[in-house]
Amino acid sequence: MPTLAETSKLETALLNNRNEILHNNTVFPFSYREALERGTFISGMPKSGKTNLGKIIATQLLHCGYTVRCFDSSQAWLQSDIPYYVNINSFMDLGKADIPLEQSCVFDVSALLPEEQAVFTGEILDRDFEVARTEGLPNWTIYIIEEAQLVIPSGSLRSKYAQTTFRMVSVGRNFKQRFIMLTQRPADIDVKALSRVGQAYIGQHWEENDIRKLSRLLGYKFEECRRALSSLQLGEFVYFSPYTKVKEIVKTPAFVQSRTPVEWCSMVKPKKRYYPWQLEWWLKQPT
Ligand SMILES: Nc1ncnc2c1ncn2[C@@H]1O[C@H](COP(=O)(O)OP(=O)(O)OP(=O)(O)O)[C@@H](O)[C@H]1O
Ligand SMILES: [Mg+2]
Repeated sequence: MPTLAETSKLETALLNNRNEILHNNTVFPFSYREALERGTFISGMPKSGKTNLGKIIATQLLHCGYTVRCFDSSQAWLQSDIPYYVNINSFMDLGKADIPLEQSCVFDVSALLPEEQAVFTGEILDRDFEVARTEGLPNWTIYIIEEAQLVIPSGSLRSKYAQTTFRMVSVGRNFKQRFIMLTQRPADIDVKALSRVGQAYIGQHWEENDIRKLSRLLGYKFEECRRALSSLQLGEFVYFSPYTKVKEIVKTPAFVQSRTPVEWCSMVKPKKRYYPWQLEWWLKQPT
């Protein structure tokens, strides 16, 4: 009789070999391998169903036993299956966001200005990366970056706040860190980040600059790309995997929520900190 941990490993192995997600009686393609080896990109005009699709994927990744940490600028993820959330009221709120790395959570950054959201995301990624680099992670961590055009805008490689996000996108895989980027404006995302995605779901788009960038990603001619993307409906995406060369239109189902995130602070007492001028600090030092 396999133990619970063994059963869960077995399920993960089975899921990893399948390249699809079943949700709300609908099956659509999703490569677990690309999600872990490279990254996932979801794009579309406002109200095209990006967050809905992101929540379905996040639920599936949680079932696989991965950690999912989401930077949420719209409070939409407070209706997801991610177990905890924390309200961030200042981009310096790092103490409040001190949630153990193996814990899936939503950082509600809706109170922050766009630039503050980018700074906060960069700070959290920096802190998590340092733990992953020095201590190693038992589990894969998938970061969900909503409104990615704010966090890694075009040309942001030169700005300080985007450096840690780029580092996670570029080398995070070696430390079990991967990402799902969602955006309304692919034209505004740094091309170096976009070129690293392993699979993409592209929803309805009309804007010329967006279509130009997406036509290169999808390998379509401009007009062909405009025709294909402008005719998509809510919940419809062109699924594209540049490595397996799969390109097809998929219909995603409506997300069905099975639990509500709980506020992290109300569950956990903050860790007491000691300082060198206190006896407790000296008592805690290794001999
Ligand atoms: N596949 C779907 N089937 C049915 N309803 C859907 C589907 N996808 C999304 N919806 C509904 O459409 C609305 C908009 O979806 P969603 O919030 O995912 O869009 P979005 O692209 O993330 O928009 P925004 O850019 O404003 O964040 C929501 O009410 C959602 O429940
Ligand atoms: Mg959304």
